[in-house]
Amino acid sequence: MKLAGKVAIITGATSGMGRATAELFAREGAKVVVSGRNEERAKAVVDKLKAEGHEAMFVLVDTSNVEEAKMLFDKTMEAYGTVDILVNNAGALSLSPLSELGLEEWNRVFNVNVTAALYLTQLVAPVMKAKGKGVVINTSSVAAYGAHHGFAAYISSKHAMNGLTKSMAWELGPEIRVNAIAPGAIHTAMVDSIGGPSVLDHMKEGSPLKRIGTPEDIATVALFLASDDSSFIDGQIIRVDGGIEI
Ligand SMILES: NC(=O)c1ccc[n+]([C@@H]2O[C@H](COP(=O)([O-])OP(=O)(O)OC[C@H]3O[C@@H](n4cnc5c(N)ncnc54)[C@H](OP(=O)(O)O)[C@@H]3O)[C@@H](O)[C@H]2O)c1
Repeated sequence: MKLAGKVAIITGATSGMGRATAELFAREGAKVVVSGRNEERAKAVVDKLKAEGHEAMFVLVDTSNVEEAKMLFDKTMEAYGTVDILVNNAGALSLSPLSELGLEEWNRVFNVNVTAALYLTQLVAPVMKAKGKGVVINTSSVAAYGAHHGFAAYISSKHAMNGLTKSMAWELGPEIRVNAIAPGAIHTAMVDSIGGPSVLDHMKEGSPLKRIGTPEDIATVALFLASDDSSFIDGQIIRVDGGIEI
């Protein structure tokens, strides 16, 4: 098992790629802390993992309120006494064109997609530094490499995530490795909320692999980045996108 005995906090683990990552990490021996806002879905993830004989708990946190992130850290320390892996995966989408994009929406998207990752990393870093080892995995997007009409807040937040990832890697080494995953079109609830896989057909057709990704396609890369298999990889944004725009 690649993560035996490790404690992993995964934000946005009630659904999609965060859920798939929590499940894979637990099967690889990690104690996983599942976080999100929806109690029913959080409980379903943890119940399933416990029924399979794994160690897991959930903490309900709205990461648009960055101070709640402290509760996630505190409850993890209370339950497991340490943290080895942080996956900053929770994400909020925004479809407003600039003319309708209010500061409230801009701040909500940045709080969930960027500021919560910064704040949570600041909380776990001293613990990881003290034990001489830790891993942070951020969630970027292929949206960090271009722009489209109507996604300004989301696209800007993912561009920011790339810069934050590289800054974190510089400042948190040598003990802590920090990398990001930039998913392409992955079939999750987020994609369903904007019309399902058909809206991403152009991305599928524009890729050599000719398919939409699955949450598991992301989870396996997260496992690689969390484990010692990637021990010399740091400060990288790893595109997991079926090869679009190569
Ligand atoms: N799907 C794609 O094609 C794609 C592509 C590129 C990047 N991404 C990124 O991948 C990450 C995961 O997204 P996904 O596609 O797996 O979407 P998803 O299935 O909708 O999952 C999003 C997760 O984020 C959590 N979340 C959202 N807002 C939150 C908040 N305010 N506080 C706490 N948790 C919150 C949700 O939990 P609750 O509902 O329980 O709060 C849920 O667990 C996001 O960062 C997204 O931007 C997705």
